[in-house]
Amino acid sequence: MIMTVESSGLVDQITKSDHAVGIGDKVIAKKRCVKKKARLQLKRPAVRHQAAAAAAAVVSTTLQKVFDSCRRVFKGAAAVPCAADVQNLCRILDGMIPEDVGLSKDLQFFKPKTEAEGTPRVTSATIYKGNNFELCIFFLPASAVIPLHNHPEMTVFSKLLLGTMHIKSYDWVDPLNSDFLISPSKSRLAKLKANRIFTAPCDTSVLYPTSGGNIHEFTAITPCAFLDVIGPPYSKDDGRDCSYYKETPCINLLDREEIEEYKADGSCYRWLEEIETPKESEMDGIEYMGPKIIDSTA
Ligand SMILES: [Fe+2]
Repeated sequence: MIMTVESSGLVDQITKSDHAVGIGDKVIAKKRCVKKKARLQLKRPAVRHQAAAAAAAVVSTTLQKVFDSCRRVFKGAAAVPCAADVQNLCRILDGMIPEDVGLSKDLQFFKPKTEAEGTPRVTSATIYKGNNFELCIFFLPASAVIPLHNHPEMTVFSKLLLGTMHIKSYDWVDPLNSDFLISPSKSRLAKLKANRIFTAPCDTSVLYPTSGGNIHEFTAITPCAFLDVIGPPYSKDDGRDCSYYKETPCINLLDREEIEEYKADGSCYRWLEEIETPKESEMDGIEYMGPKIIDSTA
């Protein structure tokens, strides 16, 4: 599959391997994206953009500020950033422009008439990944979907850089031990937190381990790019694997006496049932070739 993000040539490595985890009496088979050689052929930028791209590749003050802030904000597993740190990082991200990561609305990929061949696939480029946080850009062709997935024990800052996308997000209602909130199919009750369209430029959104829409789904309306700041990163070894879900309405649930208190607030609730990793979640990876960051602690 060839993705036409104009940039200096990039390399993609993705492969899949399977493993299984048990949930109650169910077994959910998961596919993980890990390294497979698949070179992407990317167009070079037009001449008038090359100078800007070359300059941008040298340094981005804003990207460096994001990185330096992340160094201070993310203190490791189970450490949720304090409100002041969140506010500070949001302020920096709010001021970010596509050029800070080597992108431009003029790139062919972001042209509205660009049509993907076959099922549109998401592409990602990791700017940085350490033990405490990760910076990653996701590219979605129009109509591409990142299916409903969670972020266990994570705080995630998402900054839409280009395009228009629909975001739907949920938070778990329960403490895990609330039996009445577990349906016979082992679904869990979730409360809708966001269900709206975002167009860049827009403010940064933040999700937390138990609030802010920890489980979310992205659907690109136009070609999009967004930056995710994820702390800590996914790590299966540390119990932070990514799970995917399908949602079902709570028609029967709303008849249940126990949840009258939830009905009363007028919010939207859904059952979320964990599913096998959906095919649409498979991504292509490309090497990040934009402005560099300097890790002064390395
Ligand atoms: Fe996500």
